[in-house]
Amino acid sequence: MIIVLLGAPGAGKGTQAELLSAWLGIPHISSGDLFRSAIQSGSELGLRAQTYINAGELVPDEVTIAMVAERLRTPECAEGVILDGFPRTQNQALALKAFLDTLYRSVDTVLSIIVSNEVLMERLTGRWICPQCGTVYHAVYKPEKVKGLCDIEGARLYQRSDDAPATQGRRIEVYLSQTAPLIEFYRSEGVLAEVDGEGSVEEVQQRLREVISAVRAGSGR
Ligand code: AP5
Repeated sequence: MIIVLLGAPGAGKGTQAELLSAWLGIPHISSGDLFRSAIQSGSELGLRAQTYINAGELVPDEVTIAMVAERLRTPECAEGVILDGFPRTQNQALALKAFLDTLYRSVDTVLSIIVSNEVLMERLTGRWICPQCGTVYHAVYKPEKVKGLCDIEGARLYQRSDDAPATQGRRIEVYLSQTAPLIEFYRSEGVLAEVDGEGSVEEVQQRLREVISAVRAGSGR
C-alpha cells in the first residue's frame, strides 16, 4: 500500500506514521528525517538542505525528488510505504505519480491530518527529541520520565532548530501556500481522506486506521 500523510508542521505526521508503519509492516519514509540525517553526516546534500530548513523554507524540488526516489527504489519499499512530508509541492506530486507509473502503481490513499494553528504551535513548542534513537517526546503530552533525558538511551533531549518560534510561523505559511493545494490535487485524483488530527495520539491513530481499513476493503487488499 502506498500512503501519503499530508499535514502542517506539528500535525502529528511523524508520530502517526511510526504507529501505522508498525501496524501495516511497511516502512515510514520522512523526507525531513532524510534531510536531518544528511545534515548530521555532513554530506553535500545536508549542507545544501540546511540553509532552507533553518529558514523554514522548502528544499528545492530537484534535490528532494532525487533523494526520495532513491529511497523508494530500495527493496524494503517493494510492499508499500508511508510517505511523511513528501510530496509537498505540485511538482513533487507529479514526480511521484510519474515514478509510480513506471512501477504500474499509484498512491492508494492520502490522509490529510487537520489541526488548528493554535494546537500546531503548542505541539511544535513542546517537542523534544532524543539525538540517539530519535524518540519524539512532548513536554505536556508525552513527557520523558527524567526531565531532559531520553527514557531509552538516557541521552540529553534537544529541540529542532526549526521549531524556534520565529521559524514555526514561516513553516506554517509555507505549508498553506505550497503544500495545502495538494489537498485539491489528491481530491481530484479520488484518493483524499481528511482526518481530524486533534485529540490523543491513540484517537487520531484509530481514525487513520479506519480510513486505511476501508481503502483496503475497497481494493481487496
Ligand atoms: P519535516 O521534518 O517534514 O517537518 P514538518 O512537516 O514541518 O513536520 P514536523 O516533523 O514538524 O511535524 P509532524 O507533523 O511530523 O509532527 P510530530 O508527529 O513530530 O520537514 C522539516 C523541513 O525539511 C521542512 O521545513 C523543509 O525545509 C524540509 N523538507 C522536508 N520535506 C520536504 C519536501 N518534501 N520538500 C522540500 N523540503 C522538505 O508531532 C509534533 C509534536 O506533537 C511531538 O512532540 C508529538 O509528541 C506531539 N504530538 C503528536 N501528535 C499528538 C497528539 N495527537 N496529541 C498531543 N501531542 C501530539
